[in-house]
Amino acid sequence: MCSATSRNILPEPPPDLKCVSEELASVIRTKISLNGPIPFSEYMEMALYEPGLGYYSAGLQKFGESGDFVTAPQLGNIFARCLAKQIEQVGTELGQYEIIEAGAGTGVLAADLLIALQKNHPPKCYRILERSAHLRQVQKETLGRRVPEWMDRISWLDEPPKNSWQGVFLANEVLDALTVERFCVADEGIRQLQVIDTPDGFDWLKGSCPEPMHKQIKLILSQLGQQPGVGYCSELNTQLPAWLQAVTVSLQKGLALLIDYGYTRHDYYHPQRRDGTLICHYQHRAHDDPFKWPGLTDISTSVDFTAVAEAADFCELEVSGYTSQAMFLLACGLDKVLADFELLSERERLMMNNQVRRLTLPGEMGERFQVMALSRGLDESLSNDLQGFSLTDLRYRL
Ligand SMILES: C[S@@+](CC[C@H](N)C(=O)[O-])C[C@H]1O[C@@H](n2cnc3c(N)ncnc32)[C@H](O)[C@@H]1O
Repeated sequence: MCSATSRNILPEPPPDLKCVSEELASVIRTKISLNGPIPFSEYMEMALYEPGLGYYSAGLQKFGESGDFVTAPQLGNIFARCLAKQIEQVGTELGQYEIIEAGAGTGVLAADLLIALQKNHPPKCYRILERSAHLRQVQKETLGRRVPEWMDRISWLDEPPKNSWQGVFLANEVLDALTVERFCVADEGIRQLQVIDTPDGFDWLKGSCPEPMHKQIKLILSQLGQQPGVGYCSELNTQLPAWLQAVTVSLQKGLALLIDYGYTRHDYYHPQRRDGTLICHYQHRAHDDPFKWPGLTDISTSVDFTAVAEAADFCELEVSGYTSQAMFLLACGLDKVLADFELLSERERLMMNNQVRRLTLPGEMGERFQVMALSRGLDESLSNDLQGFSLTDLRYRL
């Protein structure tokens, strides 16, 4: 996700959107009045996915310049064209293969990938696993317009596939949208951050931490060289193993490519990162208040890629590569992709340069975003030699 990180003044939403947010806040308040303080994960679930009202469920413009943030596929087709190279390498070994994309946003990555793959080794079909009914509609419109000839081979899944399949599973910026628990270190020890309703709006409560979560956090913190002090807060993605298991259990042979902003565990839970990684986006402003206009604001967290690797072990997937987005794109032949653009006009070339800068510069998406490849059943020579990880492979850091 790309946006200006201004924590100053957020633009005021129009009155009709404020009403939608107030309606969602009232649903959350009712839940709290019935059940007492709720874990942050429940608040985040409702703020993002409450039917008809949550950020991803209501029909708001989220992506692109007129939305709240820009993702790599929204910048142009370079990201997809490079990704296609990695997919082709795996597709060639598999012969017939499918692509399943989770959380496909506006559908632009699917469209650009199908166009790029069309030339050499197209998939048999493309399936999309999407939680948001509104985004499914947007995806259908994008794909119908951009790749109408593919529409009879594109389908939408209500739940992860049950029947075994082979191919490539993709998730770009989906892990960061999974709901998380928040915790803090207090004088009494590790506390779960819960949400309460006050006359001034929602607020945090340091509640008692459920035993399994407490155990997991203690284990993570014990692995750090330096112990975080009182006041330290962070997040724990308790959903991750079950989610990964659900989406990959039927993958018989192939690769899962997970792309997101995140760190290894050591960096994620570094004691200096005292406020965790939670970030909210509203109209291209990043801020840290998830209680501001629930339903109108995106809420996400960075990904602990060590946790993804552990979840992969649990799912009997092999971690076959881990690198930064910049190195992945370069290894997938970014230079060759750019060479195709030589004949473009001056203006188009400027736009292309801008796209490459945002995808690869360290201060933009290049270093903040990581790519992890998880494989199952691939020939060893391929799983150890995936094109995207041929320049740098940082698995040793996990
Ligand atoms: C930040 S957006 C990224 C969209 C797109 N991949 C892109 O790069 O532009 C997160 C997407 O993940 C979807 N999502 C969140 N949780 C999901 C889940 N458990 N399964 C499938 N999709 C999910 C959201 O509805 C949304 O489409």
